Amino acid sequence: MGADAAEGPPSGAEQALQAAFDAAVAADERIEPRDWMPEAYRASLVRQIAQHAHSEIIGMQPEANWITRAPSLRRKAILMAKVQDEAGHGLYLYGAAETLGAGRDELLDKLHTGRQKYSSIFNYPTLTWADVGAIGWLVDGAAITNQVPLCRCSYGPYARAMVRICKEESFHQRQGYELLLALSRGTEAQRAMAQDAVNRWWWPSLMMFGPPDDESPHSARSMAWKIKRHSNDELRQRFVDICVPQAEALGLTLPDPDLRWNEERGHWDFGAIDWQEFRDVLKGNGPCNEQRLSQRRRAHENGAWVREAAAAHAAKQAARRAAAQPPGQPSGQAARPTETARS
Ligand SMILES: [Fe+2]
Ligand SMILES: [Fe+2]
Repeated sequence: MGADAAEGPPSGAEQALQAAFDAAVAADERIEPRDWMPEAYRASLVRQIAQHAHSEIIGMQPEANWITRAPSLRRKAILMAKVQDEAGHGLYLYGAAETLGAGRDELLDKLHTGRQKYSSIFNYPTLTWADVGAIGWLVDGAAITNQVPLCRCSYGPYARAMVRICKEESFHQRQGYELLLALSRGTEAQRAMAQDAVNRWWWPSLMMFGPPDDESPHSARSMAWKIKRHSNDELRQRFVDICVPQAEALGLTLPDPDLRWNEERGHWDFGAIDWQEFRDVLKGNGPCNEQRLSQRRRAHENGAWVREAAAAHAAKQAARRAAAQPPGQPSGQAARPTETARS
């Protein structure tokens, strides 16, 4: 929006568009890419979807770290499938951001230069094999708790991407839980390794829901636009309530001496979160910030030839189709994809 447009009072036409948008959101209808939307709604969605997409692809790194050392063929196959799923999630989400007019190159450039963030959780290291289990159970579990309500988000392409992502995330959560269950029923050393991983991942997982409600700058507006459906603290409480009985079933403990059932609230009370640690990691001072970003930049540079080759191939196919098309024939008839065009 230009400065002039922002300064003057909205025209009658603009007011009508805004009223139609407000009515659609109030009626729980989906906003689609072709629909008019306020510039701030578009910008807020781009910011959120891009940060989400970046988290998916950066999140591949801590677990990919264990693919070569998975203890069995079965575990290796599961972990490879999971890491590939995360790449796919990134793809759906960058696609959703593109429907809002944000270029993928531009978003990746913002990630690589630190102008857009990804989830801080991926700046922690994966020290043992049990970390793969703790990430699946807790990190993917927290992601699901955050993301299930996004399936009803007011922006259509984001909501639809989330439906598919959530199905895959629930597989991720279960494989992590099952991995930890195997370890906790194993030898004493395996049980201790599982407990240590849970001790290290529990608090960072609670931080994944973002700052407390009274310090969350974007929350109120996102709720009004029905991008967000629940507050950070509500979702965090929901996650704690889900995890406590699961930890018990695993035979593991959660590292919080203040955890106790509150009969009156009908929820588990839990201890204070170290928000200073959260802010430090967010600022770039977590254990792996440097490593994650430099690996991401390197992967992007190493993949340049693939992107160039794919673009050259697409241009060649388009030129061939144009040349094969008899003059005057509508493009839809000659340009149907064939086995050859796709190979
Ligand atoms: Fe994911
Ligand atoms: Fe996942």
